[in-house]
Amino acid sequence: MTTVWSFPTRVVFGDGSIETIGAEAKALGANKALVIADTGVVEAGLVTPVEKSLGEEGLEVVVFDGISSNPLEKELSEATEAYGDAEADLVVAVGGGSPLDVAKLVRVMATHPGPVAQYDDAIGGDAKITGEVPPMIAVPTTAGTGSEVGRSGVVTIEETNKKTVIFSPKLMPNVAILDPQLTVSMPPKITAATGFDALTHCIEAYCARGDHPMADAIALSGIQLVVRSLHKVVSDSRDIKARGNMMKAAMMGSVAFQKGLGACHSLAHPLSAEADLHHGLANALCLPAVLDFNRSAIPKEIARIATILGARGDDEETLAFECAGAVRALRRKVGLPEGLSAVDVEEDALGQLAKLAMEDACHRLNPRECTEEDMLALYRASM
Ligand SMILES: NC(=O)c1ccc[n+]([C@@H]2O[C@H](COP(=O)([O-])OP(=O)(O)OC[C@H]3O[C@@H](n4cnc5c(N)ncnc54)[C@H](O)[C@@H]3O)[C@@H](O)[C@H]2O)c1
Ligand SMILES: [Fe+2]
Repeated sequence: MTTVWSFPTRVVFGDGSIETIGAEAKALGANKALVIADTGVVEAGLVTPVEKSLGEEGLEVVVFDGISSNPLEKELSEATEAYGDAEADLVVAVGGGSPLDVAKLVRVMATHPGPVAQYDDAIGGDAKITGEVPPMIAVPTTAGTGSEVGRSGVVTIEETNKKTVIFSPKLMPNVAILDPQLTVSMPPKITAATGFDALTHCIEAYCARGDHPMADAIALSGIQLVVRSLHKVVSDSRDIKARGNMMKAAMMGSVAFQKGLGACHSLAHPLSAEADLHHGLANALCLPAVLDFNRSAIPKEIARIATILGARGDDEETLAFECAGAVRALRRKVGLPEGLSAVDVEEDALGQLAKLAMEDACHRLNPRECTEEDMLALYRASM
């Protein structure tokens, strides 16, 4: 079997690095940028330094801020229309995973025929993304999804109401600017939930089936950074060193999950589509049960993760057993809820959610095969 390993995004990292965005845009040969954001990011003042730097380099800027958390197909259509109306030649995304994902997909929808559902990764849609796409600069303001260096965009398709993953190397931004200052305004709950998304990416990538030694190494280092820094950024939002570490961990998680994800993301996606739960929070609530479920298939890997999480045990079996508990302890420490019932998910809804989780493609690379009954049991164990 042949596999492909690739880490191509240009990443500009550092406190104040947002000031370089104008020069980066110029280097891409751009003259007019459509900035895609959401109202929360605009109100936090995070688009202002972007507009300033782009303006200083002579670029015209149009801002589109109509993106919600768990973005919808309709919002993608509106953003694509805004790109056409602006006659822009560069897409700049400012925000968390939601504006970043939509911006990545705008580049496909501006250059390929609709509807977006035909590009669904679960039906091999990547093969249809063949044309050139306009350049993009990604400016993350959360530290979670790592979408700034990833090849996927997630959008809820109107007809099916399913959170759908579009996956293609063409979705990768040309440049990512990681300025920890832009994440300082995140409220503690979003900081914790997005941080758990980064942690889940690293853990699921490391556990996923497949041969990718570089992804594995990056994933393990990412887990280490989360363990070192997540509680710090939650307790002191202005800890720039820790904020920077969380941005690195988020980026590393996304680079690592080119190897694959797992059952936790399949459980999380329907929770967002059906109950509008934040993606990182949904992962945080399901991750311990998935670790317990996978323990019999990959005890060595789960034990290694447990060690990084600070669990104690004299042998592999004990350590693997302690892993889920260590994740629960971190979840508690950063102030996230303890289970799905705490966020008003009803027992009655679990059957339908399990059906949808099975239809999600992420679990295909889970180290242990899952049935619909397994998905139901995992939801029940996460209540
Ligand atoms: N493409 C990928 O690889 C990938 C991976 C994981 C998740 N996702 C997707 O990403 C989305 C979640 O992204 P997210 O977790 O980054 O959250 P988000 O983009 O949905 O943002 C959550 C909220 O935080 C606010 N916010 C963002 N940055 C802020 C800041 N610095 N200060 C104040 N408020 C701020 C936003 O306005 C929004 O209200 C989901 O749709 C998920 O499916 C994509
Ligand atoms: Fe995720």
